[in-house]
Amino acid sequence: MKTETSERTARIHMPPLHSIMNRVREMRSTGQEVYSMAQAVPWYGPPEQAVEAVKQAMDRKSFHLYGPDPGHLSTRAALAGEIKRRRGIDIDPQRELHLTCGASQAFVSALLAVADPGDRAIVLEPYYFDHVFAIQFSSLVLDSIPMVEDSGWTVPWEILEQRVPGAKVMVLVNPGNPTGAVLSEEELRRIVKLTGENNCTLIIDETYEQFNFTGSSHHPWMESKQDHVLTLGSFSKSFSLSGWRLGYLFGADHILTQALKVQDSVVICPSTPGQMLLEECLNLEGWVEKRSEEVRYRLDLCRDAMEKAEGLEWRKAGGGFFTLAKTPDTIDAYALAEHLISKYSIAAIPGDAFGSSGRHHLRFSFGCLSDEELVPAMSALATVNLDGSALSKAF
Ligand SMILES: Cc1ncc(COP(=O)(O)O)c(C=O)c1O
Repeated sequence: MKTETSERTARIHMPPLHSIMNRVREMRSTGQEVYSMAQAVPWYGPPEQAVEAVKQAMDRKSFHLYGPDPGHLSTRAALAGEIKRRRGIDIDPQRELHLTCGASQAFVSALLAVADPGDRAIVLEPYYFDHVFAIQFSSLVLDSIPMVEDSGWTVPWEILEQRVPGAKVMVLVNPGNPTGAVLSEEELRRIVKLTGENNCTLIIDETYEQFNFTGSSHHPWMESKQDHVLTLGSFSKSFSLSGWRLGYLFGADHILTQALKVQDSVVICPSTPGQMLLEECLNLEGWVEKRSEEVRYRLDLCRDAMEKAEGLEWRKAGGGFFTLAKTPDTIDAYALAEHLISKYSIAAIPGDAFGSSGRHHLRFSFGCLSDEELVPAMSALATVNLDGSALSKAF
């Protein structure tokens, strides 16, 4: 008899990202040109100086072994120091900061530390699908609230004010994935106040924090350590360390004590060699800022190309690696993604993957394109034609 699998995993439907990335790999393996604007993997690699510095450490036995559950104290102290210098946020590296196996594991640890099965968790839609999967497999009740697209993916205050009371958790991604929208300081303050007054934990995912082009980089802990605010982030984009699986979680001591139980049981500790590499990276002042300027340059080129394309409407992006462009309502975005890859050699993700308000959109990740790919990819994008007559021939 076939083993019955759990309901908690059956609820989850894997996003189309994997099939699109497989298609990209397949095309590349047969020598076909394809510009991947699908998965958000930066075009650059980690800082060379940092990589060189840790190469010698490979001969040491400790390089290959478990470290302390919350990460090495020296690495946590280096990270707390960097956050303090750059953002003015005070974090006690001993009690208020963990290194994790990516922002992904930080999110699950944070969620399980504060919420029980049946609790309600609010996400703003279009959402980052892995958050939703974690909410689903944790047996929480997903409460997905669409953002206001017409005003640039802003917060729907009236609905939010009704729904926060009684919710256990609210999740924010700032800058947003898939929208690239950045919350203003005023919006953030209002959400922090609303959640605080209603005993709702606010989990802020700042994976793209260093790719914020709006100048609005407010964080609630800049002023005081708010007990109900947990923050997590990643080194997958900033230092391009995605293969090392490294991220962080900071928040109140008593919550992190609970989160560490999850970390210990699932992964024990973050990667030891990854932390050595990270410590070297954190010494390099201005390295990420330079990459961020280059991402910003890509954003501008992508917007210019999309403005020339027919049937793709650029949506304002203030940060991150993305824009979630509007596509014609008459054609399913999965079919359009297929059309784009086969006719224009551009891989993008159907917006449906990010919730129903992502329907009839495609997410383009401009932060993936290398210097060599940039000009041909943007030329291809500018020629896209999704207007009715062109499409009727295509479908
Ligand atoms: C918003 C967001 N959070 C988390 C992650 C995952 O980060 P990590 O690689 O650190 O697990 C991603 C990856 O794309 C992301 O976009």
